[in-house]
Amino acid sequence: MKKLIPVIAPYSPADRQAIVRGNIDLQETERALSEFCLPGKEIGELYLDHLLELNRKQKGTILVAKIDGRVVGFISCRIEYDDSVTTTEDLNTHGYISDAWTHPDYRKNGIFKKLCAAAESYLQHFPEVKVVKLNVIAGNEPAIAAYKRAGFKPQELTLVKRI
Ligand SMILES: CC(C)(COP(=O)(O)OP(=O)(O)OC[C@H]1O[C@@H](n2cnc3c(N)ncnc32)[C@H](O)[C@@H]1OP(=O)(O)O)[C@@H](O)C(=O)NCCC(=O)NCCS
Repeated sequence: MKKLIPVIAPYSPADRQAIVRGNIDLQETERALSEFCLPGKEIGELYLDHLLELNRKQKGTILVAKIDGRVVGFISCRIEYDDSVTTTEDLNTHGYISDAWTHPDYRKNGIFKKLCAAAESYLQHFPEVKVVKLNVIAGNEPAIAAYKRAGFKPQELTLVKRI
């Protein structure tokens, strides 16, 4: 399919409703794969506010992709500081991508690829950031494929069990 060229810019309040709808869709994607995810409509607004607050505290941003003024995707990134004594300093202080979403009508057109590259460029402005990390719900094959294609590889696996 022909690759589309979106305009990518930091989040502005005018994007709010489109981003909330994206959050809901993203959450429903994950909820279909995990019994631990709450319904999208319950968290859409709340999660955006949470993300904006985390980004404010942790030098982060939401990058929004638009085509003809319409929001077609976004990605959020910030800096995280872990204090693990068993891993290298460049993993402890890392860039963190927390959400990526492309509007269903625009998928497989390279929009995620451009958003991910934009997030990496943003994080590269911070000299302390040498590594970028993210979590993905197990079984989210399109997301795992997209991140692997962008050069990410598994580092740690989270296992859960109800007791
Ligand atoms: C995952 C997601 C963001 C990918 O967005 P996209 O804009 O369609 O991705 P791109 O077109 O930029 O594709 C990038 C690469 O990902 C891979 N890819 C994308 N969608 C894929 C799919 N459904 N199956 C397999 N590989 C896929 C391709 O290898 C592609 O690289 P290529 O074009 O060089 O072959 C999108 O499917 C989405 O929004 N999913 C729902 C929300 C979600 O799960 N977000 C991730 C949370 S961690």
